[in-house]
Amino acid sequence: MDGNGRWAEARGLPRTEGHRAGVEAVRRVVRAAPAYGVGTLTLYAFSQDNWQRPPAEVSALMHLLSLGLRREVPELKANGVRLRAIGRRDRLPGALRAALARAEWETRHGTALDLRLALDYSSRDALTRAAALAVPPGGGIPSREALSDALGRVLHPDGIEARPVDLFVRTGGEQRLSDFLLWELAYAELLFLDTPWPGVTEETVRQSVAAFHSRQRRFGGLAPTPAALAA
Ligand code: IPE
Ligand code: MG
Repeated sequence: MDGNGRWAEARGLPRTEGHRAGVEAVRRVVRAAPAYGVGTLTLYAFSQDNWQRPPAEVSALMHLLSLGLRREVPELKANGVRLRAIGRRDRLPGALRAALARAEWETRHGTALDLRLALDYSSRDALTRAAALAVPPGGGIPSREALSDALGRVLHPDGIEARPVDLFVRTGGEQRLSDFLLWELAYAELLFLDTPWPGVTEETVRQSVAAFHSRQRRFGGLAPTPAALAA
């Protein structure tokens, strides 16, 4: 979700207004996603590297996140959305940690959409932690199987399973991954949109999913021949 700040600056508004508008875009996308066949949606809300921003912007973001989470729980629950956070929690403000725990508990039975919020997230950090977990209890070198298993299943410190990503969408015009889901993106289709995040609507979701379906995925294999398709 990139481009909040530039969206605001282009309107002569403070950057935090861009984040506020970004929360509205999150609502639109989360509401629309299941109808377009999206079963799992991971939103990159705050990266480990975002701590480098000015403290006022960081605390405004944390405040918006706690507020947004508290406000949205009833609707998430009513729509069968299960919300969970990935990333580190120990450095988040207490109010946000509490709002997260509450939202995760309240929405735990949701099956319509697996919504994952990446907060204080770094994929390299998640991979390093997963690898460390594979080390046998007495120390020593983990087996290849143990390592691969740990990287694939316990990718997030809280035990949420890693899932191969089908479609990666970055808004805001930059074309980079920024330490997001590096393992999970191995065969993802990548889509970079110029639209800033606050400009995202249900139509953006529709177009992105349509773009995904127009791609031919081969996973390193060959395209099926017409004969194979007919069989
Ligand atoms: C939102 O956009 C991403 C967050 C970290 C919340 P930005 O805040 O990165 O906006 P730009 O890239 O400066 O426009
Ligand atoms: Mg940015």
